[in-house]
Parts: sequence; C-alpha cells; structure tokens
Amino acid sequence: MTPDRIKAARDLIAFHLEAGVDIAVGDEPVDRFAEPAVERPPPAANSAPREAARRERHAPATFSRPGAAADLPPAAGSQSAATPVSAEAAAMAARQAAHSAATLDDLRQMLTGFEGCALRNTATRLVFADGNPAAKLMFVGEAPGYEEDKQGLPFVGRSGQLLDKMLAAIGLDRTQVYITNIVPWRPPGNRTPTPQESQICLPFIRRQIELVDPDLLICLGGPSMQTLLEVKDGIMKMRGKWMPYATGTRDIRAMATLHPAYLLRNPLAKRLAWRDFLAIRKALG
Ligand code: URA
Repeated sequence: MTPDRIKAARDLIAFHLEAGVDIAVGDEPVDRFAEPAVERPPPAANSAPREAARRERHAPATFSRPGAAADLPPAAGSQSAATPVSAEAAAMAARQAAHSAATLDDLRQMLTGFEGCALRNTATRLVFADGNPAAKLMFVGEAPGYEEDKQGLPFVGRSGQLLDKMLAAIGLDRTQVYITNIVPWRPPGNRTPTPQESQICLPFIRRQIELVDPDLLICLGGPSMQTLLEVKDGIMKMRGKWMPYATGTRDIRAMATLHPAYLLRNPLAKRLAWRDFLAIRKALG
C-alpha cells in the first residue's frame, strides 16, 4: 500500500471509532450500498394519525419469540431492526413485560425478546447481571462497555476491576453482591445512554431490584442515580447520602457513589468513594 492509502485507511478507521464502530461483527465486509433498495408503498394521504394509532395498538409487537436466540440481538435487516416503535409504546411494552416476569430468569427471557430499545441492534449481546441474586447489596451502573458486551457480564473491564478492588477493601467479593446496569445493552462507542433509552429500560431494572430484594441499593455514577432515585442534583452533591427507595414491596436504603470509570480518570476522588464504601460496610452490619 502506498503511504497515501495507508493514511486514508487510518483516517477511515479513526472515523469509524469516533462514530462508535469499534467491533467487527462479520468476517467478510458487506457493501450495503450494493443491496437492492426495499420498495415501500407510499403512505396514503392523511394516514399519519392512523399509522401512529396502529403502532400504539401493536406495541406488544416490540417482542420477538422469547428465548429464540439466547441473549443475542436479531440479525441485521430482520423485522425488529427495521420496525421502530414510539418511545411511549416501547416503555409501555417494557412495563407490561417487566410486570409479568415472576423470576429473574423470566426477566432475562423478557429482555432477550424485547425489541423496543434500539441499542440491542448495535450491541453484541444482552448483559443481564453478575453476582449473587440472594445478595443484600446490589450495585447498578449505567450501561455495559466494550468488554462487558464481549463477555455478556457487567463490570468486567477496567472499571469492573476497580470495583472488585473496592469491594475487596470492605471484605466483599462478587459472590456477596449483585451487579447490573440501568441499560443492559452497550451503547455504540460507550456513549451515555440517552434519557429515552434509560426510560425504556427502567421498568426492567425496577423489576430486577424488586426480584433481587436487596437491603441496600448502590447507584454507580450520576446517570444511574438520576434514573433510579429520580434525583436532579449532581453526583458530587448527592453521593454518600442514604435515600429511601421503594422496591414495590418495601422501602430500602439507597445511596449513590462515584462511578469507577470516573475514579480511574480522577484518582484523587477515590478518597470520597472510600468514605462511601465504609458507610456501605457499616450499613451491612
Ligand atoms: N460501566 C458501567 O456503567 N457498567 C458496566 O457494566 C461497565 C462499565
């Protein structure tokens, strides 16, 4: 390759990384521009309200056959990838599905078949949870990253390794805690999930908390705190404070602390997280 072509290839890869394309999903490249365009009939005049109503009615169609392909997203170009539904319809379907899950296994199955969140189409797999479902201490992060998406487990990358060290510092390991995220699919390029994506996934994480039924709930980072504890203030102001959280069956204690990824970037803040972890240890008794 000439130096010009090498530079062009490097620039293209850098552009892909910026755009969030950082994993190869097939062995062979596919030229999507060369594929025949799918003809769609033009919508009839004034059909928009009818079409919106039809989509609302068909909200439960945000599910594929449960368990059809355990934890893996639909193939590109499948109906689910091509049929967006409104956020409200997706949130409603999520509420119904989460409510009907009697066990954590049911909930995992429901999420596997749930097509209301577009993140599942770009993620490699569902990242449901890790740790002990009977634990009294539950951690909720924001969303899986690259390593988590590869392994199908939350907090297994650099942030997860730091979390393990923080747990060890208060005498705990993953067999004594339960760990999950607000959003169970990796957002492209590790971006923060949008409020809409978090809201669509919220009924699932709420039900997951209810089913695990921990005594203490710890939100890792601001987005997790703001979504679950409905707090508007920032993490620096709210971290380390115990707040009530209603699981649906009882009130438990919840606290937000700094996200391990933040601590990796700001090592001086570890002393604040250490205080929070000591408070968690004390609360556990
Ligand atoms: N960050 C998160 O919020 N969750 C993970 O699982 C990994 C990194």
